Amino acid sequence: MAASRMSVFSCFLHVFLSSPAIAALKKYDFNIQVKNVSRLCNAKPIVTVNGMFPGPTIYVREGDQVLVNVTNHAQYNVSIHWHGLKQFRNGWADGPAYITLCPIRSGRSYTYNFTVTGQRGTLWWHAHILWLRATVYGAIVVMPKEGTPFPFPQPYQETNIILGEWWNQDVETIVNQANKLGLPPQPSDAPTINGKPGPLFPCSEKHTFAMEVESGKTYLLRIINAALNDELFFTIAGHNMTVVEIDAVYTKPFTSQAILITPGQTTNVLIKADQSPSRYFMAARAFMDAPITVDNKTATAIFQYKGIPNTVLPTLPQLPAPNDTKYALNYNSKLRSLNTPQFPAKVPLQIDRHLFYTIGLGMNPCPTCQNGTQLVASLNNITFVMPKVGLLQAHYFNLSGVFRTDFPDQPPAPFNYTGASLTANLATTTGTRLSKLRFNSTVELVIQDTNLLSVESHPFHLHGFNFFVVGSGIGNFDPEKDPAKFNLVDPPERNTVGVPTGGWTAIRFRADNPGVWFMHCHLELHTMWGLKMAFVVENGKSAEETVLPPPKDLPPC
Ligand SMILES: *[C@@H]1O[C@H](CO)[C@@H](O)[C@H](O)[C@H]1NC(C)=O
Ligand SMILES: *[C@@H]1O[C@H](CO)[C@@H](O)[C@H](O)[C@H]1NC(C)=O
Ligand SMILES: *[C@@H]1O[C@H](CO)[C@@H](O)[C@H](O)[C@H]1NC(C)=O
Ligand SMILES: *[C@@H]1O[C@H](CO)[C@@H](O)[C@H](O)[C@H]1NC(C)=O
Ligand SMILES: *[C@@H]1O[C@H](CO)[C@@H](O)[C@H](O)[C@H]1NC(C)=O
Ligand SMILES: *[C@@H]1O[C@H](CO)[C@@H](O)[C@H](O)[C@H]1NC(C)=O
Ligand SMILES: *[C@@H]1O[C@H](CO)[C@@H](O)[C@H](O)[C@H]1NC(C)=O
Ligand SMILES: *[C@@H]1O[C@H](CO)[C@@H](O)[C@H](O)[C@H]1NC(C)=O
Ligand SMILES: *[C@@H]1O[C@H](CO)[C@@H](O)[C@H](O)[C@H]1NC(C)=O
Ligand SMILES: *[C@@H]1O[C@H](CO)[C@@H](O)[C@H](O)[C@H]1NC(C)=O
Ligand SMILES: *[C@@H]1O[C@H](CO)[C@@H](O)[C@H](O)[C@H]1NC(C)=O
Ligand SMILES: *[C@@H]1O[C@H](CO)[C@@H](O)[C@H](O)[C@H]1NC(C)=O
Repeated sequence: MAASRMSVFSCFLHVFLSSPAIAALKKYDFNIQVKNVSRLCNAKPIVTVNGMFPGPTIYVREGDQVLVNVTNHAQYNVSIHWHGLKQFRNGWADGPAYITLCPIRSGRSYTYNFTVTGQRGTLWWHAHILWLRATVYGAIVVMPKEGTPFPFPQPYQETNIILGEWWNQDVETIVNQANKLGLPPQPSDAPTINGKPGPLFPCSEKHTFAMEVESGKTYLLRIINAALNDELFFTIAGHNMTVVEIDAVYTKPFTSQAILITPGQTTNVLIKADQSPSRYFMAARAFMDAPITVDNKTATAIFQYKGIPNTVLPTLPQLPAPNDTKYALNYNSKLRSLNTPQFPAKVPLQIDRHLFYTIGLGMNPCPTCQNGTQLVASLNNITFVMPKVGLLQAHYFNLSGVFRTDFPDQPPAPFNYTGASLTANLATTTGTRLSKLRFNSTVELVIQDTNLLSVESHPFHLHGFNFFVVGSGIGNFDPEKDPAKFNLVDPPERNTVGVPTGGWTAIRFRADNPGVWFMHCHLELHTMWGLKMAFVVENGKSAEETVLPPPKDLPPC
């Protein structure tokens, strides 16, 4: 079936000439369908949207209303998440399966109906059930309102760069087999750039992304990390990039040879084609500084000056080493909100709720697993158990017995979190436990990595909000000394943050979006193992501070 996309401008709104903003209605049809795709000398059926891999880009302007009719022609239950869109009062359109809705079954449709308010920049969409996001993902480009320029020089052109991972075999089969063993599934066979591994892999000549540039012109790259389990370094040989936006929030510009981007994050960079006209490799490779196996494979694409023939061998880039912690920490320390009168950083200064969550890996009994045990992950020693009905539905309709609201604000017992590796008694407790937040209260959450089994960095994603990354450090968070070092002026504002290996990250947000909002590690392996929880944000007093009623076509459980 052909990709179909139409953009319909609402006639009704034009009638009201006094209306302050003429918003447009953008409609998309997403057909979830299986298609054979060939990479690394292998053809295999993959789940796609409209037969495209990566899927279609959603183009909208700030203020637009969007209707995406998702029809499921695949054999799996499906749901799509619009990653980073705040979905004010409208969790029904957020998409994580069994958190805000039950999935769309085979043969059924559901229309995600949302308005893009107060956000502009690069975000993305992806399947939010099983490991289907391995192939079901695409970009969301939110242009600023008509007549509002970027706060940086207008680029000549722009290109989406979506980083991902490719498995030669069927991903769901691999994951099911691994879960029977209670072990991690095998790593992907290749990282990809716009779905293509590039010429360092066999049979990839046809499958290399190339972008043609004109000498002297400046380009905007909208870089998205859609990989399942790899934080990535990305670079372009011979050129520096200027970072101008992260997670659809403008930043103070800074120049870097390579960027670091975790699964879930987006980064916009400007790049000037100011080197001698030739062909240059773009490259992406994992950042992994935990004492576990390093994924050393590199995806490449080509940055090609106009008029240069394809026979010219591209210049190889220099990527930071996979374990270059110093590069990673230094890069992250340069990220700052733009914080201008037009784009202020509204950092909560007074905090109503202080939360401290520890990340743990563990091992629980598993009678159905081959070894009798399975690897799990936890927050505050709780391995989250997925419910059978959507949590937002349970919350809205007051269904009892689906979840509890006693997720603890602190770990059950303090210990030397990042001291010597703890390998004994790795058991966790299990449950569907949520944390209740008062409407419009301010929250500070410190996420602390631990050495339960192993230290490792974890990209945490919060649905329904942006947060400010006010502080970060290595070792154990010190509640006496560390807050004094927080950046409360222009900290980076984003929806996904990498908690450093054996360290901590402090985030702040205002709970002004009523509903049920998922928070999880964006490494799919860890999400599956239970490194997740959800917040229930209560309604405010007025109707405008209350969860919207569910749409009529909400998928039934
Ligand atoms: C898709 O590829 C599989 C092998 O992976 C093959 O059995 C099947 O016939 C192919 N289907 C189509 C429609 O080409
Ligand atoms: C969504 O698309 C499906 C398949 O084309 C169609 O049957 C259904 O009527 C559409 N839903 C809406 C609300 O347009
Ligand atoms: C989308 O949501 C808006 C706001 O809730 C509502 O007014 C509109 O009728 C909905 N549109 C569709 C097609 O469901
Ligand atoms: C890139 O930036 C580095 C550090 O600022 C500088 O040393 C180098 O010359 C720059 N390279 C180019 C190609 O502009
Ligand atoms: C990564 O691969 C390169 C080239 O194959 C090799 O030289 C290097 O030692 C590898 N690094 C690691 C950490 O495995
Ligand atoms: C990083 O990896 C390289 C190659 O595998 C190794 O020689 C080096 O000691 C590692 N560095 C650190 C800081 O672990
Ligand atoms: C089986 O479990 C034990 C600990 O209970 C562990 O040491 C071992 O690695 C596991 N083996 C497999 C194949 O899972
Ligand atoms: C759920 O309970 C709240 C508080 O008791 C009430 O205001 C609301 O109307 C109930 N919702 C439904 C759908 O019954
Ligand atoms: C925690 O463990 C580290 C590393 O073993 C050690 O250096 C530190 O002194 C310990 N801290 C406390 C409070 O015991
Ligand atoms: C986690 O809970 C389990 C089960 O209650 C317990 O055995 C274990 O000691 C706890 N671990 C930590 C780190 O709190
Ligand atoms: C939330 O609280 C802030 C600070 O007290 C206040 O300025 C704002 O109006 C409140 N917002 C709502 C929607 O109540
Ligand atoms: C698909 O979703 C429905 C609704 O939640 C559920 O009843 C069914 O078991 C799911 N099917 C599979 C294969 O998980």
